Amino acid sequence: MESLAQAAADEAAVLRAAQTAAAPVVLVAVLAGLLAARGVLRPVADLDRAARRLGEGRLETRLPVRGGDELARLAGRFNETAAALERSVGELREMEARSRRFVADVSHELRTPLAAATAVTDVLEAGADRLDADAGTAARMVSAEVARLTRLVDDLMEISRFDAGAAVLNLNEMDVGTAVAACLRTRGWTGAVTADLPEGIHLPLDPRRLDVIVANLVGNALRHGAPPVTLTLRAGERELTLAVADHGPGLPADVLPHVFERFYKADAARARSEGSGLGLAIARENALLHGGDLTVAPGPGAVFTLTLPRTRP
Ligand SMILES: Nc1ncnc2c1ncn2[C@@H]1O[C@H](COP(=O)(O)OP(=O)(O)OP(=O)(O)O)[C@@H](O)[C@H]1O
Ligand SMILES: [Mg+2]
Repeated sequence: MESLAQAAADEAAVLRAAQTAAAPVVLVAVLAGLLAARGVLRPVADLDRAARRLGEGRLETRLPVRGGDELARLAGRFNETAAALERSVGELREMEARSRRFVADVSHELRTPLAAATAVTDVLEAGADRLDADAGTAARMVSAEVARLTRLVDDLMEISRFDAGAAVLNLNEMDVGTAVAACLRTRGWTGAVTADLPEGIHLPLDPRRLDVIVANLVGNALRHGAPPVTLTLRAGERELTLAVADHGPGLPADVLPHVFERFYKADAARARSEGSGLGLAIARENALLHGGDLTVAPGPGAVFTLTLPRTRP
């Protein structure tokens, strides 16, 4: 009996001793495990963060390369990829900047000879009636083509100014309805459109730029769309809208995303005789410069809406 009790006591003692001895070992093992996990987890978390930053466009993102294990090699590969990406994006930007400068320079160089050519064709056209039929037709044609070329060069110069960030807003406090009505009047469009232009909506705007926008939208509605063309000006609490709608064929869904692109013309068949396809691109840049926007909606006819903020950001 006694030996049984002794054995139980010994067993308990052994167990206690084992527990006392094992506790630090287990602790050390757990700590070592945690440290090892941290050693792997941290670089992985760093990599995740770096990849996200790279995806957000911060191409200068690099990872520290520590040691020579798999993770270090991965970090090295990440850095090489990021550097290559940064290099090619830099080259692309440089090329784009160069081609934009080229367009600006060429347009500028063309202005002087075009002005001289215009002076000559003006004289030719004025005398066209006194020429024989063929020569008269040729004179008028050359005059129209020179005018077209002049407009294209002016548009290219305007676009170049936007690209260079050199477009300046000359703001004037004005009655928007009155300004839009004046634009229609100077182009002789008053009879051709139904205008709902309430007076009393005041806003600081660049009058020349507003005129460019309205002239292209209404010009497009008359040229590419069909009557009746309606203009509707509305003032909301935060913004005002000017909608230009026509009852023409409108724009197919696959065309809508492209109408504001430069040189885009939906009707390629008439491409030669019509405008340059820069009108809507310029109109939209002008809207953006005001902190507003220009959008198009599908409809039976085309509906273009100019939105301008009533409060400056
Ligand atoms: N109201 C409209 N109805 C149908 N198609 C339109 C309308 N407005 C624009 N488009 C289409 O969008 C294209 C681009 O218009 P945009 O004003 O940019 O160029 P454009 O009028 O052809 O030339 P530009 O305005 O430079 O003289 C037009 O060629 C036309 O195909
Ligand atoms: Mg146009």
